[in-house]
Amino acid sequence: MAKKKIAVLTGAGVSAESGLATFRGSGGLWGEYDPQEVASIEGWYRNRKLVLGFYNQLRKQLSEAKPNAAHLAIAGLEKDYDVTVITQNVDNLHERAGSTRVLHLHGEATKVRPENGEYDRTYSEKEVIDVGYEPVNLGDLAPNGSQLRPHIVFFGEAVPNIEKAIDIVAGADVMLIVGTSLNVYPAAGLYRYAKNETPVYLIDPEDVAIYDPKITHIREVATKGMETFISKLKECIF
Ligand code: OAD
Repeated sequence: MAKKKIAVLTGAGVSAESGLATFRGSGGLWGEYDPQEVASIEGWYRNRKLVLGFYNQLRKQLSEAKPNAAHLAIAGLEKDYDVTVITQNVDNLHERAGSTRVLHLHGEATKVRPENGEYDRTYSEKEVIDVGYEPVNLGDLAPNGSQLRPHIVFFGEAVPNIEKAIDIVAGADVMLIVGTSLNVYPAAGLYRYAKNETPVYLIDPEDVAIYDPKITHIREVATKGMETFISKLKECIF
């Protein structure tokens, strides 16, 4: 029998127990930095050095972080289920935990690409360069002679992977959302593409920006919440 499909949507909260800061709430990155300065397309053209420095720092923190039990539990679901992870995170902790199908909605911190003209709109996957955890500075150029920029979906830019994500959610038998405040669209609206009969679980210790009776809220941190989710999965459906 074909394995049942689970779509997992993750946000910064899944990596919090690995020591990576979330964006909102106390201790969040957007309390310390202005996202319009360090994570928007306008901010990039205003001050490339500042933006490069912000992502150099994130890359360094990522080099020191390890996947936690929640990333490992999500990867472990692949033993019994057909799992696709859709993540808003720019870290690589799902891949390092062993998840084999990971779709990054907001880009990847370990990658860069050339900026292609003012307010660049398009790029080819062939232009994307994996720099690992190395810093990238002003004056570091791509083979086409352009400044390298983070391979990140800045605020103000389109989300190229959103249609793939919608198809994954629409085809899922179960949807699991972990550690996202559901403040940022279009990612926050993805669960609405799930079929009516598809149960939607959310693991987050706090309230999130969406109230929908369709969502079963497991009010726990990601590591503990994954244990609860797995026991519910065994109990209830397949
Ligand atoms: P947020 O910082 O908005 O939300 C993080 C969520 O994680 C909150 O709801 C917290 O309650 C929850 N949380 C905290 N610790 C947790 C834990 N140990 N286990 C589980 N949950 C926990 O982060 P995102 O929703 O991911 O985009 O933010 C979405 C996007 O906004 C990011 O991808 C980023 C940001 O601006 C870009 O930079 C393009």
